[in-house]
Amino acid sequence: MIERELTERIVREVGTPTYIYSADRVRSQFAILEKSLTGIPHKIHYSAKANSNRSILELMRSLGAGADIVSAGELHRCIRAGMDPTEIVFSGVGKTRAELEYAIVSGVGLINVESFGELKGLAETAKRLNTKTSLGIRINPNLATDTHPYIQTGHGSAKFGVSRDDAKEMVAWLRENAEELDLISLGVHLGSQIARVEPYKQAMRLLVDLAAELTASGVDTLQSLDLGGGLAIDYGETQAIDAESLFGVVKGELAGTDLTLLIEPGRFLLGNAGLLVMTVLYTKRAGSRNVVVVDAGMNDFIRPSLYGAKHRIEVVGDEAAREKGTSTIVDVVGPVCETGDYLGQEVRLGAVEEGALLAVHGAGAYGFSMSSTYNSRPRPCEVLVEQGKFAVIREREKIEDLARGEAAELNWR
Ligand SMILES: Cc1ncc(COP(=O)(O)O)c(C=O)c1O
Repeated sequence: MIERELTERIVREVGTPTYIYSADRVRSQFAILEKSLTGIPHKIHYSAKANSNRSILELMRSLGAGADIVSAGELHRCIRAGMDPTEIVFSGVGKTRAELEYAIVSGVGLINVESFGELKGLAETAKRLNTKTSLGIRINPNLATDTHPYIQTGHGSAKFGVSRDDAKEMVAWLRENAEELDLISLGVHLGSQIARVEPYKQAMRLLVDLAAELTASGVDTLQSLDLGGGLAIDYGETQAIDAESLFGVVKGELAGTDLTLLIEPGRFLLGNAGLLVMTVLYTKRAGSRNVVVVDAGMNDFIRPSLYGAKHRIEVVGDEAAREKGTSTIVDVVGPVCETGDYLGQEVRLGAVEEGALLAVHGAGAYGFSMSSTYNSRPRPCEVLVEQGKFAVIREREKIEDLARGEAAELNWR
């Protein structure tokens, strides 16, 4: 995906650990979705939480994507990246009043509410600002998905969305009490890394059915159904969803309605477009295990430690390394003072020596955006690659950045 010579050139100039993203790969993933959505009114809203770097948001905008956001911070970033606010969907269970106000004032196209309290808060805020506002209701479809428990969001006891019955009560209240609000959408988000079509089919059926029921009861403002994100990718041992089959089925469920389909993919667009490149610091034995200590840790890339996620790890320029020696089974661990700090366990690697470069594959989504400075480690550099050239899209954090905002003297109040 990203050639060895280019990776080495990048590392020579910016060091490691560094995230490297391929713009071409993002484009081809986007094209897969567009192709499979042909024939129905639709809009792709890139889920900014997967990677909210300004250049990535600009790339998504240039491809014609809107955004799916979950915070004022993401809204700010999207606006700065030139996204049209009317093409932004704002989801999330805990939006504050200040965030709702910011969204209304910015002209966000769709605010998906996730509780009765939030609906009332939105109504009050829109009234106070005397601004017509479009909203959707996020339904909890009570559907199980067979993914890691932390990335399941659509089962009945998940904190997300409201039940179908609660949604109907909310609509009744809305019609009586909130003339500033227009209910234009119904939505779901089932979770992440979903490889099967069936849960989407069921969710789509639920949304179409509920939309028909509400329309029959007199709601005449609905324009779209939002199927959320969650499309699985192949991380090496996992299966990607087949977008063509998925949207074939979705089109079948939507047939006969004139509603626009919204989707909110994050991982699908960016996951396999990104690598995390790191340097081997030391190799050692720990009991019966071979340990490779690298200069990236769980603070830089938390998915293995947090979700037990398995990512392909390879020596950069693996062919040469493989020729030199037989592959061994190693644990690739970071410098953070936690036993759970690893990038991969029982990884088959070519011969590695201190100073070698390793690449974690599938690191484009939920990599940098979930990074932290734990252990007071500055966050990595981010680089975008396009047709043999590269650009730094976020400089490596500096040690001096770490304590920014901390008081030098205490000002007791
Ligand atoms: C509301 C919502 N939409 C979309 C997404 C994107 O999910 P994915 O990156 O798996 O496509 C998420 C992820 O958590 C989400 O919470």
